[in-house]
Amino acid sequence: MRTGFSVVTLPRANKSRGPEMANPTQRDAVPYRLAADTFGSEELHAGKAVLDSGRLTMGERVRAFEQEFANWTGSRHAVMVNSGSSANLLMVDAMLRRTEGGAPPWRRGDEILVPALAWPTTVWPLVQLGLVPVFVDVDARTLAIDLSSAESVLSSRTRGMFLIHVLGQMAQMNDILRFCREHGLELLEDSCESLGAHFDGRHAGTFGTMSSFSFYFSHHISSIEGGMVTTADRAIADDLRSLRAHGWVRDRSDRTRWKERFPTFDDRFLFISGGYNVRPMELQAAIASVQLRHSMPCWELANALQAPCRHGSTSPCPGCVSSARNI
Ligand SMILES: Cc1ncc(COP(=O)(O)O)c(C=O)c1O
Repeated sequence: MRTGFSVVTLPRANKSRGPEMANPTQRDAVPYRLAADTFGSEELHAGKAVLDSGRLTMGERVRAFEQEFANWTGSRHAVMVNSGSSANLLMVDAMLRRTEGGAPPWRRGDEILVPALAWPTTVWPLVQLGLVPVFVDVDARTLAIDLSSAESVLSSRTRGMFLIHVLGQMAQMNDILRFCREHGLELLEDSCESLGAHFDGRHAGTFGTMSSFSFYFSHHISSIEGGMVTTADRAIADDLRSLRAHGWVRDRSDRTRWKERFPTFDDRFLFISGGYNVRPMELQAAIASVQLRHSMPCWELANALQAPCRHGSTSPCPGCVSSARNI
């Protein structure tokens, strides 16, 4: 199964005028696979098993995949959602609340450093939730936030940094962490383009307070659409679980405590915080789980050029490469 073909028109080489001056009517159409799925029979079987089971909405398979993903990335908690954009939205919202009490790290009006090279839905949640994004130039080598530019825009209202690991490249995390510590900034990571990337042996997304991941069609692993938030903080993970589904307590690790606090309520319908509905489906979790087990090793092997990948190639094969380029 191969979908996602696009046709890219490349300018003909024209030394005298330069390619940018080429007449569009003289362009050659070159078919180039912008994104292709890497689904094999395992994904199809996993998807069919979900449809056959009758349990379609978020349940056991999502919980199992969250655990697999947490183990794989070395995170303590993982909360699956329906996209990387939703993951970013929940992270920012979670920074503005503490359901269990205590002061939230961010308040409306706070300034948050964001890279000038960013995805729209990394920046928009800040605006939508009343924070002020402050754009910072990027480092030409890592394409992540440049710290001297960041230093030049710090103010008394700067409270955080929303870092993006771009196209599989990690930021220099020792410098970033030192900078955040020195200036009292809470760090969020957007690792949507960088599943599998490491810095000093630690996986992208395990450095900040939270990190987002995306399983969109063209990313390293795909659940067609899908995303994840990882965090080391149990209370934050619980707030993310409430935010993900209407603000209810059903999926929280401290559900029993809430039930005891409000004994007259049916705890299936106990809503304790603001919320959205950005839940993933069982189908997405089942497919993503196969992808994590098969496509990521495929990637690692193919990238190292040491062994055939899942598609039988000893070099990054078109199916793998096009999926990872995030085009
Ligand atoms: C850096 C970054 N953040 C967030 C997203 C949004 O992810 P999704 O498409 O799953 O909503 C993308 C999408 O490509 C991205 O590149």
